[in-house]
Amino acid sequence: MSNSKFRDIADVIEKRIVNGDYPPNTKLPTHRILADELSTTPVTVAKAYKLLADKGQLESFVGRGTFVCGHSELNQAIQAPKDEENTYNFSLLQPCLYKNVPSLQQAYRQTAEQLTPALIGYVEDSGHESHRLSGVAWAKKYGLKGGHSGNTLLTNGAQHALSLLIETLSKPGDTIAVESLTYPGILAIASLSGRSVVGIEMDHHGACPNALENVIKSHKPTLVVLVPSHQNPTGISMPESRKRAIADVINRHKTWLVEDDIYCFLDEQPIEPIANFAPDFTFHISALSKALSPAMRCGYIKVPDNKVDLLNAHIRANIWLSSPMNYAVATVLIESGEAFRIAEAQRVTAAERQILARNTLASLNGSVSSGYHIWLPLPQQWQPERFAMEAKNRGIIVTSGSYFVTNGGTSNHVRLSLMAISSEKRLESGLQALNELMSLDVKALFPY
Ligand SMILES: Cc1ncc(COP(=O)(O)O)c(C=O)c1O
Repeated sequence: MSNSKFRDIADVIEKRIVNGDYPPNTKLPTHRILADELSTTPVTVAKAYKLLADKGQLESFVGRGTFVCGHSELNQAIQAPKDEENTYNFSLLQPCLYKNVPSLQQAYRQTAEQLTPALIGYVEDSGHESHRLSGVAWAKKYGLKGGHSGNTLLTNGAQHALSLLIETLSKPGDTIAVESLTYPGILAIASLSGRSVVGIEMDHHGACPNALENVIKSHKPTLVVLVPSHQNPTGISMPESRKRAIADVINRHKTWLVEDDIYCFLDEQPIEPIANFAPDFTFHISALSKALSPAMRCGYIKVPDNKVDLLNAHIRANIWLSSPMNYAVATVLIESGEAFRIAEAQRVTAAERQILARNTLASLNGSVSSGYHIWLPLPQQWQPERFAMEAKNRGIIVTSGSYFVTNGGTSNHVRLSLMAISSEKRLESGLQALNELMSLDVKALFPY
């Protein structure tokens, strides 16, 4: 065996990662199985895995095996190519932004005119009280109870809230329980901060209470992170009965729950969040990114009373505070009611686009979903990485289902956001192009 044999093996694995044979979050074969396949020794495979782990492409967990990292692929999962005119972007989960521009222009103008030294100075407690109160009003409108300026913190969007909570409530080496298919931003935080992830089985109402209970007993996660409304990626919304059942498990086991409720405004009639039924253990996240603008970076967390000081200390140590300028704009929009009008208009647009998608995409078989995105099943012949790659060659950006899996699972879906493409006409032609691609004979396209 040459000294560099393990490098050759690492090259083979790397190629398999790049061409989609080993998608993100896939569990790799054991040293022995891969050694037999590549006619080498388990020690050489172990050295190759170590080399790729050092490069940040693989990660190993004692007792669970070696996995392809998800974090390095986050920019692949969510892409924002500059050439918008020639691209159908189904990967960005954002509102139909052009509709929001006039209201935001007006609110930014008003904020600039009313600028005071207090607004452009340092502030205590993660931001101004009036800005925290507007966060309370936002979340209350969509069903959250018990929020007040003393237990509501300001963050740079929901992503910052998630990383703040994961890094504050757990430590490296701990396990975090998430839905078995979950938002890659959560997997990226876990992977970069050395937390393991365990998936909770889901059914058509979201994470199953029994499965959560089993995961808590068997894996002893430090915290549970769930997206109960219009879940990313499946689009599932938990009914109130399921939320109560989840809260019951959380209360009995006294486990921390992070409830990422960023899509709460997409229900025509608000469904109460889990936080209402387990207030002592739930950190409830809401944000304006999906209704108003992701660039405002306005997020809110309602926090159990005994964790307010700790989280404020972390926010202050990390970023001092989120920009009061953007929160001032948010406050103008929330206090005038304009924010709720915009959110409702986006909800209606999403509902209309869902109907368009259902009427265009044959593989949906008329099945109903709601919200900004669709979890599209692919015909059996297609593997999602390959489908996403082939779509990209045709100027269509979709997100392969492999970015969302946990527990080394697989997926034969892609996620489509219906809102980033600005006109309905373009959306329809993008959907038709996807339909055509799905119907192609894969063996004829890829004869090797
Ligand atoms: C479930 C979920 N949480 C958090 C985020 C990030 O939101 P923000 O832009 O507010 O950081 C996203 C974005 O897609 C999301 O889908």
